[in-house]
Amino acid sequence: MAGMSRRTFLSRATASIVGGIGALMGIPTVAYLISPAKARGGLGVEAIPLGPTNKVPIGEPTLFKATIERKTGWVTQAEELAFYVFTEDGRNFTALSNVCTHLGCRVRWVGNEKQFFCPCHNAVFTETGKVVSGPPPRALDQYELSVEGDQLFVVGKVEA
Ligand code: FES
Repeated sequence: MAGMSRRTFLSRATASIVGGIGALMGIPTVAYLISPAKARGGLGVEAIPLGPTNKVPIGEPTLFKATIERKTGWVTQAEELAFYVFTEDGRNFTALSNVCTHLGCRVRWVGNEKQFFCPCHNAVFTETGKVVSGPPPRALDQYELSVEGDQLFVVGKVEA
């Protein structure tokens, strides 16, 4: 404090306190903003049970629906998810989200054309989820599956 006026000391002390309070308030805000981005890489839950493998005919994507519960703070919300599961050999399975990567409408499988169709803006995807036409910026999201016994489980999202 030697050589520093009382006014300078008080203004620096005030600035330090205000800066400290701002930093403390900013930490939860930054954590809140970052956490959804981190959760995006995974499912946010351990595994999602879908159903038996014998529900999936060879060469025909089959829609499975599941409900999961997500906890945000003290709030628990049920979320409906749906996946198209595909197999070419009855042993190896892949899953695609049914959510269009343009604006989030639900795509549906058009069996006689062997492609997914989004009715909102007429987008078309291949059976592996690649964009054929329309405005979607990327392929349908793909998910990892595991098979336990004869049951299918979604265990993670495949990063593009
Ligand atoms: S939401 Fe699917 S094409 Fe726009």
